[in-house]
Amino acid sequence: MIIAIDGPAASGKGTIARRLAEAFGLPHLDTGLLYRATARAVLDGGGDINDLAAAVSAARGLGLMDFDETKLRGKDMGEAASIVASMPAVRAVLVDAQRSFAGRQSGAVLDGRDIGTVICPRADAKIFVVADAEVRAQRRSLELRKRGEAADYDAVLADIRRRDERDLGRSTAPLKLAADAVVLDTTKLDIEGAVSAAVALVMAKTPAAPLNRQAGQG
Ligand code: DC
Repeated sequence: MIIAIDGPAASGKGTIARRLAEAFGLPHLDTGLLYRATARAVLDGGGDINDLAAAVSAARGLGLMDFDETKLRGKDMGEAASIVASMPAVRAVLVDAQRSFAGRQSGAVLDGRDIGTVICPRADAKIFVVADAEVRAQRRSLELRKRGEAADYDAVLADIRRRDERDLGRSTAPLKLAADAVVLDTTKLDIEGAVSAAVALVMAKTPAAPLNRQAGQG
């Protein structure tokens, strides 16, 4: 079974994807990390984030599983990732690794922006997670503060709006609702509410899927 989770920054898609993976006993790939790691490699190499050749070479050099998330989760890296993610040649380099992860015999859960539309158009269940920008900015501010980063709400909201614009507006693989995806609005839901709703959506699509109820509810 392949589960595709897409949605804008801080919509809750990462948490939902991780919890679905636990609930259904599937491996999980947060594809945003690929773009974040690409951006990080460009900057660590002293390159300019808008340099296409540097970004393509950084994407080619990535290993799929060796991400140090603590270095990739910061606000600056989100912004830098959305810049390299708007380069079609960078996306082309990263497609194969994502598809081969999804093609594992066990099945998989992937989350990102183009999973249901480009990476796994035949996924068994597709969820498009949305939430109001203001609520997403509150969540992201909280998350950044927990990491010890300064997080001014207005700046975080502006950052989220800028990234939305870039992710929705780019010509290659923009953030877009797949025709067969179900929208899950988490604006008024807490984590447990959002996870339960997502589990129910997957079960509705694939009633035979083996559910580990404890993980799904934990
Ligand atoms: O999900 P995230 O915030 O970690 O993603 C970081 C950036 O990477 C995001 O602004 C857009 C880009 N991205 C993408 O274009 N396609 C994906 N499948 C995943 C992320």
